[in-house]
Amino acid sequence: MPTLSRILPAGGRSAVPIRMIREDEDFAARLDARQKTWAEANGFSGKAGGILVIPSEDGKPRLVLAGMGRDDAPSLAHGGLARKLPKGLYALEDNPGNLDADLFALGWLLSAYDFARYREEKPEPARLVCPKGARRDDVLNQAGAIWMARDLINTPVEDLGPAELAGQAAELAKAFGGHVNIVMGGELARQYPLVHAVGRGASDARQPRMIDLTWGDEDKPKLTLVGKGVCFDTGGLDLKPASGMILMKKDMGGAAAVLALARMVMTAALPVRLRVLVPAVENSVSGRSYRPSDIIRSRKGLSVEVGNTDAEGRLVLADALAAADEEAPDLLIDMATLTGAARVALGAEIAALFTRHDDLAAALARHAAKSDDPLWRLPLWEPYMAELDSPVADTGNIGNSGFGGAIIAALFLSRFVNPGTRWAHADQSGWNFRDRPGRPKGGEALAVRAIFAHLKETFA
Ligand code: BES
Ligand code: MN
Ligand code: ZN
Repeated sequence: MPTLSRILPAGGRSAVPIRMIREDEDFAARLDARQKTWAEANGFSGKAGGILVIPSEDGKPRLVLAGMGRDDAPSLAHGGLARKLPKGLYALEDNPGNLDADLFALGWLLSAYDFARYREEKPEPARLVCPKGARRDDVLNQAGAIWMARDLINTPVEDLGPAELAGQAAELAKAFGGHVNIVMGGELARQYPLVHAVGRGASDARQPRMIDLTWGDEDKPKLTLVGKGVCFDTGGLDLKPASGMILMKKDMGGAAAVLALARMVMTAALPVRLRVLVPAVENSVSGRSYRPSDIIRSRKGLSVEVGNTDAEGRLVLADALAAADEEAPDLLIDMATLTGAARVALGAEIAALFTRHDDLAAALARHAAKSDDPLWRLPLWEPYMAELDSPVADTGNIGNSGFGGAIIAALFLSRFVNPGTRWAHADQSGWNFRDRPGRPKGGEALAVRAIFAHLKETFA
């Protein structure tokens, strides 16, 4: 795989120009007679996704026409060119004015991604001279972080268990002069009892651990990210059926997303004290597994009755959020592949956002639209809290109606965060279920770019 900066060079000679064409535009007026004939013969129109490579007399590509439809919304949609154009160097001819240069370049790089750890690489993607107006460093930063998150998600648990995930976090911290503390064993059971309970059923080499990464100046505003690091979710003794288990290597998608965010923050050197907490576990089945009906005293002191061992994500996050909240961060964000219900509500392509802070929700929605990285708010609907009541413990871990599962899970988490803390929770699928421009099928870090845009605005 060529490096990101090779795919997006700052400049270059003899690049083939790409001319972006709106659907309602008379593009033929700017072509010579020969080119016009070629465009007609190939039935090119400005329809979104339409591509025409026009050769010169010697048969080499001379000009690319690319349709952009009628939609002016900022989008990754044109990134698909990276994989559709023949290998070579290209450059945006001129910006028609309605193109977001950053997203054009970012979409290109995100389309170029190829998970080739276990097979031959795809043919080399087309290369793009970084367009005028695009902030190249920022684009490379974001694309690099998202490539990293995708690699983490796509790697099967055999090669990315709790130990390997911790190793990746340590490597990341080291590259930026941060620090990582890993809590395991008896210490984990004392400090993070829910994390220990969920993960203890795994084999010895795959035992649970809390990854606690810190970076930056202690006196800067405290930004804390928490990511669900369930490296594989069998469901535990409430075992998932095969169809529900097949994709569960992606259940550390929240961890991958917050590590990607952390990498963006550190690369951009945002003036924050960053902390990343990732409870890393395998939710597996053995004689050591925790069981439905077990009651566990959480880090915060609340006792939790386990109604279903497959609602494990909220358990490991509860202890992590409680720990994060102890130092009263200025902003606390958790990301998780937490519920199937979030996908039922919004589909797999939109992250569900929960927060008690209207201004935070509005800011994130604004950045989501601007960066084509959709998230949508769902309510922390207090009346549903009663569904979590347990007759034998301070709280259960599942609702009793079967309805509103994403909300119930978010409400459960909210019990472990001080109501005054500026906290947001993103429940996301962690996966592209179909190929789209900028979004190849497979692991994906949703909502990360939107959140990063908000962090840049808030802290820079
Ligand atoms: N990791 C799953 C949630 C999930 C499932 C995300 C499918 C994306 C796709 C989570 O641990 C889980 O199993 N949740 C259960 C909760 C239920 C037992 C209350 C769910 O959503 O079915
Ligand atoms: Mn589960
Ligand atoms: Zn899970």
